Amino acid sequence: MNAQTALSMREFVDSKPNLKYVFFGGKGGVGKTVLAGAAAVAFAQRGKRVLLASTNPVHSLSGMLGQDVFGKATPVEGVPNLWAHEIDTRETIERSKQEIKEKIEWFLKYAEIKGRADEFVESATMNPAFEESAMFENMIEIMFKDEYDLYVFDTAPTANARRLLGMSSVYSLWVNKMMQSRKEAQQLKLQLSFSRKKEEKDPLMEYLINFRDRMERAKVLLTDPEKTAFFFVTLPEALPIAVIRRFINWFEEFGIPIGGVIVNMRIDPNQVSEQADEFVKNRVKMQAEYMEEIDKLFGTMVRAVLPLFETEVRGVPMLKRTATLLFA
Ligand SMILES: Nc1ncnc2c1ncn2[C@@H]1O[C@H](COP(=O)(O)OP(=O)(O)O)[C@@H](O)[C@H]1O
Ligand SMILES: [Mg+2]
Repeated sequence: MNAQTALSMREFVDSKPNLKYVFFGGKGGVGKTVLAGAAAVAFAQRGKRVLLASTNPVHSLSGMLGQDVFGKATPVEGVPNLWAHEIDTRETIERSKQEIKEKIEWFLKYAEIKGRADEFVESATMNPAFEESAMFENMIEIMFKDEYDLYVFDTAPTANARRLLGMSSVYSLWVNKMMQSRKEAQQLKLQLSFSRKKEEKDPLMEYLINFRDRMERAKVLLTDPEKTAFFFVTLPEALPIAVIRRFINWFEEFGIPIGGVIVNMRIDPNQVSEQADEFVKNRVKMQAEYMEEIDKLFGTMVRAVLPLFETEVRGVPMLKRTATLLFA
């Protein structure tokens, strides 16, 4: 590694005393949940009140912590200052649907359109983008509540993370457009109306304005390099490297602050004897080549290299061990 210039995880975090929103991204299975957990433990140990939240539909936090943290923020046993919350994706999506349904019902009545809101709701919500957006809203709701010093989000293992953030700009554009046509429609209705009654309250418009404002607020927080950091996890392997390379490019484009790269599951060559299996030796050799590539591609962005442990990472003691290595 580029030891002279690369900040370690610890040094990076020390250089960001106001860090508040921490994310982990990367290909599935590279250790995002584990590293989010380890980072959350480390921050809690440093005296911050930390919420570890998973917006991941796969129930992973409870499994990793060996404790049920589903559906609400739950104190993590054995780690003072740390709470974990596995967000109920289904409930979040349902709530979002309900909210939209109410708006649509109101709108149909307002526009005097005959039809059942359900049909519109189904067509508007039967797609993954809606679910992502519902989860994103849920996440920023948690951020705005501001009940913790620091938040670690274990994000979904896809291109979503970036799309989610990209969405906030898209939303803003979209909502502005919507608001404009709503205003025009309202004016028209006012002009046409014989009774000329005063402008009635418009819940749809209110919702859109509120929505846009929330998105803008979220964007301000999530693009603040003092408050936010996205960490990208990779293995010394081709595919995970390719994935985070793409992520990093996208994120740079969107102006989303990148905290750095964490290399996980590296086999310590010193642990591998001459007598080791060919298979293991080949693996070590392959990893060495990819470590070089990582150095070339990400150089000073690399914050930590974690070893492949003898078992998977489960339970608080093992998480503490990982935290110590991550912040070594
Ligand atoms: N350094 C490591 N050594 C051994 N096992 C690990 C290590 N990091 C993660 N694991 C294990 O690998 C699996 C995938 O990790 P996980 O954090 O769930 O990945 P992701 O969230 O990126 O899909 C889990 O079983 C986890 O315990
Ligand atoms: Mg995970």
